[in-house]
Amino acid sequence: MQQSLIQEKGVGDVLAFAVQLVRGAGALLVDRFNQVTGVRSKSSTIDLVTEADLDSERFIVDAIRRQYPHHSVLSEEKAGREGAGDYLWLVDPLDGTVNYVHGFPVFCVTVALRYGDDLIVGVTYDPVLGELFTVEKGRGAFLNERPLRVSRAQRLVESLVATGFPYKRATMADNNLAEFNRILPKGQGVRRGGSAALDLAYVAAGRLDGYWESHLSPWDWAAGVLMVEEAGGTVTDRESKPWTPESSKLVATNGVIHEELLKVLSSR
Ligand code: IPD
Ligand code: CA
Ligand code: CA
Repeated sequence: MQQSLIQEKGVGDVLAFAVQLVRGAGALLVDRFNQVTGVRSKSSTIDLVTEADLDSERFIVDAIRRQYPHHSVLSEEKAGREGAGDYLWLVDPLDGTVNYVHGFPVFCVTVALRYGDDLIVGVTYDPVLGELFTVEKGRGAFLNERPLRVSRAQRLVESLVATGFPYKRATMADNNLAEFNRILPKGQGVRRGGSAALDLAYVAAGRLDGYWESHLSPWDWAAGVLMVEEAGGTVTDRESKPWTPESSKLVATNGVIHEELLKVLSSR
């Protein structure tokens, strides 16, 4: 029934709704920036949540419940998935919380909609730069309505790439430092922006030629994976298999440098 609702209204209506969500939440995040309250630790002392994460989440999830009461929601600060419908909203109400807490102005809000295993809509909004990245499956990815296309870099040596590290890096053996050491000497730079959703949007926009990270959660990558694919890039796991919700080591590139990046990541 809900599928027919979306067919009747069109995916475009869903995208417009998702844009309202991230614009509203983004305004709320900017309002509270520089006076961050209620900072607490979660899975480790460096994994933080603030009042702003929770307020942004409340704003988004309440709006989804009102608009699509039969849809499911999986949102970072809630304990697990709510609902069992085929449509699943994936919500990261503040991606880049550590940056946000420190007044480092690189963060975003990101929302995606999945039908079964298929990502169909994604939006990532950077309220500091006013940059709205949007994507619909089969209809391309856009930055403030300009079509996105991945870069043309041919080799790692001419590439700028990005990565991120898990919050449990102090105690995990698989903490990405070995990979970082392998990639750094091979290219023009490795950035650690602190927002996985923006890293992926930047690959789609051609600002980065590649990005890799492991142990992400679905709300971190959902919108961005669809953006990279729709912008002509490639997203796989470390074994070069197509990315799926069950995969854990994500590699996203312009497609051209993909095999080279994979090879250097797993070289010894
Ligand atoms: C984190 C950011 C970071 C990435 C972490 C994520 P959060 O999300 O995306 O760049 O390296 O793996 O957990 O905690 O700021 O929403
Ligand atoms: Ca996140
Ligand atoms: Ca978050």
